[in-house]
Amino acid sequence: MKNIVVLVSGGGTNLQALIDAQKSGIIKNGRITCVISSNPNAYALERAKNNNIDTDVIKRKDYSEFNEYDKALTELLKSKNADLIVLAGFMTILGKEVIRAFENRIINIHPALIPSFCGEGYYGLRVHEKALKKGVKLTGATAHFVNEVCDGGPIIIQKAVEVKNGDTPEILQRRVMEEAEWKILPEAVSLFCDDKIKVVNNKTIIE
Ligand code: GAR
Repeated sequence: MKNIVVLVSGGGTNLQALIDAQKSGIIKNGRITCVISSNPNAYALERAKNNNIDTDVIKRKDYSEFNEYDKALTELLKSKNADLIVLAGFMTILGKEVIRAFENRIINIHPALIPSFCGEGYYGLRVHEKALKKGVKLTGATAHFVNEVCDGGPIIIQKAVEVKNGDTPEILQRRVMEEAEWKILPEAVSLFCDDKIKVVNNKTIIE
């Protein structure tokens, strides 16, 4: 059984999808042992508490140097015996130390089809604003491993979602969550916990 630690910053609907997937048996070989938030007021923390999951908070602002923050987060994750870390709407960039300590063991959910609408500055609602501005007809979500390139790690699963006439960023965000994120994130976590993902040359092979 793998220990899953979920990092959050906001509403935590992706965390909820993981909790539900664990309850319904979609995730069989892992359990969420801790939820860590960058924001003490995140509703995601309530979702964790409602499900008797241990919580913790780590704020970037509490460290004057980024290196210190990176080290503290790495130590915190090690102290939780994390086998897998899931970034479920975690809005703080990870540092080199934590990424190296957990190579190919950090999964992120990004609300677009990478390599479109990704990289620095592309997070949350902004991603959907940019997609609508460009006028793409398809967008979607990507579950991927995290490496030192922002949104550049090996892709695990992608799912396309239609853009419709009259979409606002909020409407599109909701459709991408419902049709893609809440499905592919639990699937990717389940594949990882079942040891079905291999990484070769910065690409994944799903067995
Ligand atoms: C989700 O749409 C997630 O894909 C996105 O933030 C939202 C968090 O919602 N993440 C990023 O943009 C990361 N670059 P949630 O807190 O309800 O899961």
